[in-house]
Amino acid sequence: MTPRASDIPNAIAQPVATPLTRAAIFLVVTINPGAGHRALIRSFCADMAALVRSVGFREQEGTLSCVVGFGSDAWDQLFGKPRPRDLHKFREIRAGERHAVSTPGDVLFHIRAQRMDLCFELATQITARLGPVISPVDEVHGFRYFDSRDLIGFVDGTENPKGEEAINATLIAGEDPRFAAGSYVIIQKYLHDLAGWNALPTEKQEKIVGRTKLNDVELDDNIKPTYAHNALTKIVENGKEVKILRDNMPFGHAGQKEFGTYFIGYSRSPRTIEEMLQNMFVGKPPGNYDRLLDFSRAVTGNLFFVPSATFLENVGGQLSRL
Ligand code: HEM
Repeated sequence: MTPRASDIPNAIAQPVATPLTRAAIFLVVTINPGAGHRALIRSFCADMAALVRSVGFREQEGTLSCVVGFGSDAWDQLFGKPRPRDLHKFREIRAGERHAVSTPGDVLFHIRAQRMDLCFELATQITARLGPVISPVDEVHGFRYFDSRDLIGFVDGTENPKGEEAINATLIAGEDPRFAAGSYVIIQKYLHDLAGWNALPTEKQEKIVGRTKLNDVELDDNIKPTYAHNALTKIVENGKEVKILRDNMPFGHAGQKEFGTYFIGYSRSPRTIEEMLQNMFVGKPPGNYDRLLDFSRAVTGNLFFVPSATFLENVGGQLSRL
């Protein structure tokens, strides 16, 4: 039997499986070339938990947290060997009009809190501290929308695993023991053609998502199409559903008519989300793709490894021995 992450006593996870918050900042940066940058980032990693505590303590009900993840090249540059077993660059997918792009990004900061001021303060302190070492490539400020709906009007997050199930879905255990309590995260920033989507009848939208719009009930199998989003993203292995943990957030600029969903999915193997993406973009069987993509365009795409909090704490101290 595969050991559960919680059975491995030594490593403590970053706050991957936290309850949903009202606000989030998704900050993706690249690391600038330069001697000494590696040491600075590693010492920052060791101090990050203290930084989150300092900002978070100012509003304890704000539940501030930050998860940091590293892209494949950044991992080699910062930490070298050993490397997480399944870490690689995000693999783009092209199928017909649909394109899951792969875009630059070395480090992800996934900052969550009940209030945007906490997220913003932490992002400010992170970028101040890392200053000349990093270049921000994308920063999205997400907000929780009515009833946890995304901007296409559907409740988003209902089928997320919770508690122990969320931990087992996201945290590495015996399959890569050196990286126990780590996780993989895939992000994609989607922009919606909201005018086109809103022109569809609700029944058609419900078939595309696979749930009712008003009261968020899963459609019966006899009426749910095989191309429904929740059919294509259902992954079954050895007769058991393999879950991921999502914390999608709406974002946008009303004046510029920009309406988006920031997709973020954590899992203990990137293969699960990659299979979902394959089903969505290429289709299952090929051609039977996710119609959400007729109204949503991915403009970023990255895969990061999220090491345990214990790993982060220790990397600063190892510098003297390098
Ligand atoms: C345009 C971007 C997306 C939007 C607006 C969106 C929206 C939704 C909505 C409304 C649901 C149903 C409620 C729920 O269970 O959360 C859902 C479910 C789900 N989505 Fe997405 N999603 C998007 C992208 C993705 C991507 C890229 C993936 C994975 C690669 C994904 C994976 C899932 C999974 C696993 C479920 C749960 C299915 C189930 O077990 O019922 N979604 N999504």
